[in-house]
Amino acid sequence: MDSEIPINSNKWFQNWFDSEHYLKLYHGRDNSEAGKLAKLICKSTGIQSGSSVLDLGCGAGRHAIMFSKLGFKVTGYDLSRHLLLEAKSGAICQETKLSLVRGDIRNLPFKSKFDLVLNIFTSWGYFESDLENLAVLKNAVSLKRDGGFFVLDFLNAEYVKKNLIPSSITEFQGVTYSEERSIRDERVIKSIKFCDGNGEKCFKESVRLFDHDQIIEVFKETGVSNISLFGDYDGSRFEKSNSPRIICLVS
Ligand SMILES: C[S@@+](CC[C@H](N)C(=O)[O-])C[C@H]1O[C@@H](n2cnc3c(N)ncnc32)[C@H](O)[C@@H]1O
Repeated sequence: MDSEIPINSNKWFQNWFDSEHYLKLYHGRDNSEAGKLAKLICKSTGIQSGSSVLDLGCGAGRHAIMFSKLGFKVTGYDLSRHLLLEAKSGAICQETKLSLVRGDIRNLPFKSKFDLVLNIFTSWGYFESDLENLAVLKNAVSLKRDGGFFVLDFLNAEYVKKNLIPSSITEFQGVTYSEERSIRDERVIKSIKFCDGNGEKCFKESVRLFDHDQIIEVFKETGVSNISLFGDYDGSRFEKSNSPRIICLVS
């Protein structure tokens, strides 16, 4: 990666996203899905190639690489060394350029603003304190330039509560992943268990279930002038009780 901000954390989101198994378990979250969202964002914003993009929680760079290939100047920011290295090699394979910075989203180092700031595929709501989560969102919005855009792609809390699948099994590349999900204290909590060549492993995910009204309230507090909502990556209208995602396009 190109630079690194000092990090002091040993939380679930550091352990799990640094494990090689995150990308394996979520292998369905691929370039084709990323392409749909990139297309939706380009069409809805009218943003021109050459514009600057900041992808906060870029992971292995599936969206960042896509935007870079479309001619945008892309910076990816993430905590996971493993995923940033994947993003770096992905960009090299696809013959495109990314600027990659490793750091914690609670400590953003950027001095200049961006035409488009992204936070995609539930890369928010991980912290125990609401104040911390809300500050992260507000700071992210503040990195868009005047007239620029911020995109939040988050789970739709109402949908998650109604459609939670308590347990499931996924097999991938010879590993059996057993997932258990529950809702506690307004968080969706997942435990992931599997055996690999090094024995039994257990990881956790825990995401605060901020709902539509709470998210809109935060955006309003930042003083943004326009908020458009979509309910999935095909750009369907957001419906509180039926949409799997809440995709907020803020300008
Ligand atoms: C669910 S993944 C999504 C990755 C990517 N946006 C995608 O769509 O494939 C969440 C990402 O947020 C990153 N992340 C988690 N906690 C973070 C933190 N405190 N600071 C910065 N990035 C963090 C993870 O490393 C991971 O790459």
